[in-house]
Amino acid sequence: MVKFEFYTAGRIIYGRGEFDRIGDLVAGFGHKAMIVLGGEFLRTSGIVDRLAENLDAHKVGRTYYLVKGEPQISTIDEALDEARSAGCDVVIGIGGGSAIDTAKAVAGLLTNGGSALDYMEVIGAGKPLTKPAMPMIAVPTTAGTGAEVTRNAVIGYKEKHFKASMRSFYLIPRVALVDPALTHTMPPEVTASTGLDALTQVIEPYVSNHAQPLTDGLALTGIRLAARSLRQAYENGDDENARDEMSLAALMGGICLANAGLGAVHGFAAPLGAAFPIPHGVVCAALLPHVMAANVAALRKDDPNSPVLTRYADVGQALLGYRMATEDATIDAGIEFVTNLVRDLHIPKLSEFGMTEADIPDLVERAKRASSMRYNPVRLSDEALADILRKAL
Ligand SMILES: [Fe+2]
Repeated sequence: MVKFEFYTAGRIIYGRGEFDRIGDLVAGFGHKAMIVLGGEFLRTSGIVDRLAENLDAHKVGRTYYLVKGEPQISTIDEALDEARSAGCDVVIGIGGGSAIDTAKAVAGLLTNGGSALDYMEVIGAGKPLTKPAMPMIAVPTTAGTGAEVTRNAVIGYKEKHFKASMRSFYLIPRVALVDPALTHTMPPEVTASTGLDALTQVIEPYVSNHAQPLTDGLALTGIRLAARSLRQAYENGDDENARDEMSLAALMGGICLANAGLGAVHGFAAPLGAAFPIPHGVVCAALLPHVMAANVAALRKDDPNSPVLTRYADVGQALLGYRMATEDATIDAGIEFVTNLVRDLHIPKLSEFGMTEADIPDLVERAKRASSMRYNPVRLSDEALADILRKAL
């Protein structure tokens, strides 16, 4: 019997040019906005000026917080102090996953009190949020994390070499405002890594042991969109159709992962991202082909009639746009498609960030405890997990 639960942002607005509705949307929630910005490139792209004009037109006051790199506990607490002292009653997160997750955490803490660590899974006290967050609007400027529709905020804790989440239904943004025109500011290497994160986030939920009917269709559509548009968006950042499709794929990925879970790629992402200065998208991109190959090899060996293998063939078909003569051939061609895409988008090796063979045993141990690993469709042995890392070195 199928059982599932489905949730997403209460309102999703998607479309080129829709960013100019921001002032009107914010004014519906409050008078003083906490604006969490990510990435210096926002400052030069005119997005912040447009935001300011829009808020002025609706008489909304504001204060800014710039997130540098992926958020740490200290980042959240600093942004929270700023929002509290400015008396903010609405929060906007604009940028990639780092800015949006910071904004989500700040919105939750503004109404619930305390500090991020009180509510963190795995590394903190894990207290539940008991009150709805301050209204929050998420505006992605990358096409990757899907953080605009998820209920967790990924936060790093340097002292413990770990990344974990604050997680609550109350953290789902009130509005996800997805305007693909904002993603044109991404340089090619960011397009590549965030885009491969998006691709991972439509593949892992589809083969997850928590997959469900409402996300299956979105996942397959998302795979098709990313497979045909990521290369184009990378090669020509002003290709509107490619940018539109990547924003849609990323949004679908967020909906899928929030409801169906992820897998071993994301199981590794938390400990690797905490131990080395590797952007999340790069970790996902570097590991995705190897995790697909390891999962398929383990299933073929331990459970050759597993329906998950049929799902991997569906993934292959969505990537390729056609089916090969046999299920096995379609699966293998799908893995090859992803391998070639990662190579052609020039994703760096993990060793370029300082990781060595000696780090593998510890990373394997940490990855086994990560929350995403429990959704991987097959239990991978320590040797198989170590082998995945070795191949991405
Ligand atoms: Fe991801």
